[in-house]
Amino acid sequence: MHTLGINAAYHDCSACLVRDGEVIAAAEEERFTRIKHGKRPVPFSTWQLPFHAIDYCLREAGIRLADVEHVAYSYDPGILLGPHRGKPVITLPLEPSAHPDKEWMSPWDPLFLSSIVNAPRQLAGGAPHHLRKRFEGVRHDGPFRWHFIEHHLAHEASAFLAAPFDECAVLTMDGRGEQATTSYGIYRDRRYKRLGQVNLPHSLGLLYESLTTHLGFLHSSDEYKVMALASYGKPLFAAQFRDILRYRGDGQYEVRPADWTALFGPQRERGSEFTDHHMNVAASLQRVLEETVLEMVRWLHAATGAENLALAGGVALNCVMNARIRDRGPFRRVWVQPAAGDAGTALGAALWVDACQRGSDGRRWVMEHAFLGPAHGEEEIEAFLRQAKLRYRRAQDLSEEVAGLLAEDKVIGWFQGRMEFGPRALGARSILASPLDPGMQQRLNQIKDREDFRPVAPVVLEEEAAAWFVNGGVSPFMVFVYDVRPDREARIPAVRHVDGTARIQTINRSQNPVYHDLLRAFHRRTGVPVLINTSFNTRGEPVVCNPRDAVESFCSTPLDVLAIGPFIVEKP
Ligand SMILES: [Fe+2]
Repeated sequence: MHTLGINAAYHDCSACLVRDGEVIAAAEEERFTRIKHGKRPVPFSTWQLPFHAIDYCLREAGIRLADVEHVAYSYDPGILLGPHRGKPVITLPLEPSAHPDKEWMSPWDPLFLSSIVNAPRQLAGGAPHHLRKRFEGVRHDGPFRWHFIEHHLAHEASAFLAAPFDECAVLTMDGRGEQATTSYGIYRDRRYKRLGQVNLPHSLGLLYESLTTHLGFLHSSDEYKVMALASYGKPLFAAQFRDILRYRGDGQYEVRPADWTALFGPQRERGSEFTDHHMNVAASLQRVLEETVLEMVRWLHAATGAENLALAGGVALNCVMNARIRDRGPFRRVWVQPAAGDAGTALGAALWVDACQRGSDGRRWVMEHAFLGPAHGEEEIEAFLRQAKLRYRRAQDLSEEVAGLLAEDKVIGWFQGRMEFGPRALGARSILASPLDPGMQQRLNQIKDREDFRPVAPVVLEEEAAAWFVNGGVSPFMVFVYDVRPDREARIPAVRHVDGTARIQTINRSQNPVYHDLLRAFHRRTGVPVLINTSFNTRGEPVVCNPRDAVESFCSTPLDVLAIGPFIVEKP
């Protein structure tokens, strides 16, 4: 049985294919179309389905859309349309007057919802011409069966059906779904029970997005920059934020409307300097977010009695907040699904529908790594290098040779195996560098054309994590920060952020053998089992996907070396 998951309602559109409980493939549309986040989250773009990501998932599974039994779409328009639930064909004009019992939150809601209820027709007939082959032979009503899955249920399922737990509490937080912005529950005895949700307009994600705009960044995209900025500031305005964001007990919170200009002065112009004031504002929001979420997880722990917590939703990409939950929260283990943003809802929706169809058959898959995207074979890579007239050589021992280049402070574009699902590069489409030189962070920010304040993150051998980072445990997805051990910080200055932390990735051999071998080879040469690992892209660009993207990025930036498959390309 094949189940195709689709996320398309807002942004980070993505697809996922599940076969009898096993995830075969998952990828974001942006990697194929080269448009960051796939599209902007506006009603005009809702109709766009992630056809390239779907095409890839079908290709990976060796099937066509006609072979898919179930399609799971991670938004349920029925929640807002009420009487039309289960009848997913509505045509324009979809006027509010046609639904006298409904009050639209936005005048664009009819356009937005119309695109969603017609998504089955769009899937059946809307594929771009060059992809048609795999999409022929279907109608909007089949052979697949279509399922609209509530957005937060898709986030929740992406956590509890992927986490390495048989039982866990679940918390999801994002900007918004149909109505919910936060939801929580318990996964136990192969059943999920939602305990509650917070509804619009109260939203941790929208609050963070709104301040992201005020600080001169792109909302629904650059929130992680606000988090990075926060670590330079002091929470001098925490009282103001506590007035805006209030925990109400029983997992509920309230967000009051705020006038940022009245509180903190005019919006920062994009491209202008950052001042201490901006950093203090960011630090204050971050502090109060952490306080609020800590209250929520303490309540959730008491309400469920669970030992484990699984997180998803875009807010769960806040790795500083996640570390607070880990260190100060009551749960023994905390797991964050790495594609926590909306891309992960394709995974969650597909896993949920698959699990419901198979009934008592239970779970068959745990997300042990995120290498769920496309790989490119040696022949294809070599053909492209030849066509591009690049001088390349086949490495005798790739890990040893690249470790040697890293030890010479060369910066490496690393393109190996299947691409990562989720926003973090984890050793398949990464830029790697030595952490020994304190100037390397600045150099990488220049190479990637990023803001100076942005930290770079380390990958560390799993077995060495505790020796280099305080309480360093297994953390394969770069979703938590850890303190660098004081006795080690002089050795790895480039990955130590201003607040003494690092957003680490741990790696073991079963997750990615060649990457693990590289770390070991670098460890043997330098005594340091750590490398800088940042995503293989430049500012505003999606992470590279195929050999062409990698070569284009390599040639247009001051990267020194490209290690692509078994081949090494060095700049003169
Ligand atoms: Fe979401």
